[in-house]
Amino acid sequence: MNPLQRLRSIKVKFSVVIVAAVAVTLAVNEIGLQLNFVPLFRAGVAALIALGMVQLMSRGMTSPLREMEKAAASMAAGDVSVRVETSSADEVGRLAAAFNLMAEELAAVDRQRRDLVANVSHELRTPISALRATLENVVDGVVEPDPALLRTMLAQTERLQRLVTQLLDLSRLESGGSPLHLLQFPVADLLEAVADESSLHSPDVSFRVQVEPPDLTVEGDPERLHQVFANLTDNAARFTPDGGEVVLAAQRSDHHVVLEVLDEGPGIPSEALGRVFERFYRTDEARSTDEGGSGLGLAIARWVVDLHGGRIRAERRQPTGCRMVVTLPAPLQSITT
Ligand SMILES: Nc1ncnc2c1ncn2[C@@H]1O[C@H](COP(=O)(O)OP(=O)(O)O)[C@@H](O)[C@H]1O
Ligand SMILES: [Mg+2]
Repeated sequence: MNPLQRLRSIKVKFSVVIVAAVAVTLAVNEIGLQLNFVPLFRAGVAALIALGMVQLMSRGMTSPLREMEKAAASMAAGDVSVRVETSSADEVGRLAAAFNLMAEELAAVDRQRRDLVANVSHELRTPISALRATLENVVDGVVEPDPALLRTMLAQTERLQRLVTQLLDLSRLESGGSPLHLLQFPVADLLEAVADESSLHSPDVSFRVQVEPPDLTVEGDPERLHQVFANLTDNAARFTPDGGEVVLAAQRSDHHVVLEVLDEGPGIPSEALGRVFERFYRTDEARSTDEGGSGLGLAIARWVVDLHGGRIRAERRQPTGCRMVVTLPAPLQSITT
């Protein structure tokens, strides 16, 4: 281990090396004088020893730079697994550490991209295979293209279309390509519109809107927030047994507006509470039923809420059910009044 390794500044390291080399040169010269060696010989020996010392002491000062050069070239060629090794504490060592951190982040992004492509392909392949099998049967004359069959095929096509629309939506949100159109509007309007719409899809579940105070307003993009609550309510209704109730509630809390969607379904298992907002994540229970989407709805919801400067979380309800909580910053005007 190089004794200079622990110094945190290259400047100090160079100074130490230079001072040490000068000292050695002087010492060698002095000894040479006493032994009556000729000046040229004394100078030659002193220079050789000083050079050797500089080599020895500066080892490890520039090798991380060469390693980084090589690593950067491998990364440009697509290998993000390379790392630079260094134990030095100076600027070069810290640069190497930053380089490794960057490499790790690139590797994570690369992994996510692969996962995403795999997930998207899988989600697209399933309905396409089903459609193709049915069409083949029709073409081969194995089944008659009756209305029921056509309806199933239409449903598969709709599912495909929904998936592609959601993917585009998510990619637009992530790339910042869909700016928010902010307005201040009554929360009750939003929640009632969502409840009315959902009751058309789920006539066996009842919906209740509960806003306190009734004229509570929120600042946000009405279309985007509608999309968020339509998805939360759609999930809630899907998991609630027939005859059950879904509540859409909103109230003020300090400088926030807290909006909730409560259902009477089985709820989300504790270990999945944080994960349901990941793209394509579905609990085993949701996976085993063919209903519902492909696990993008909550990922979109989280993006939209984040863009509004808000937070979204899932909780379990007692004795059973799921509570989705969205917290949005309260509009400034209503804080001061
Ligand atoms: N209200 C709920 N009750 C129980 N599980 C839920 C609820 N909402 C969401 N989930 C779980 O979270 C997953 C992700 O939801 P989401 O992103 O909307 O996808 P999707 O609705 O397409 O399945 C669902 O598949 C389900 O497993
Ligand atoms: Mg959903």
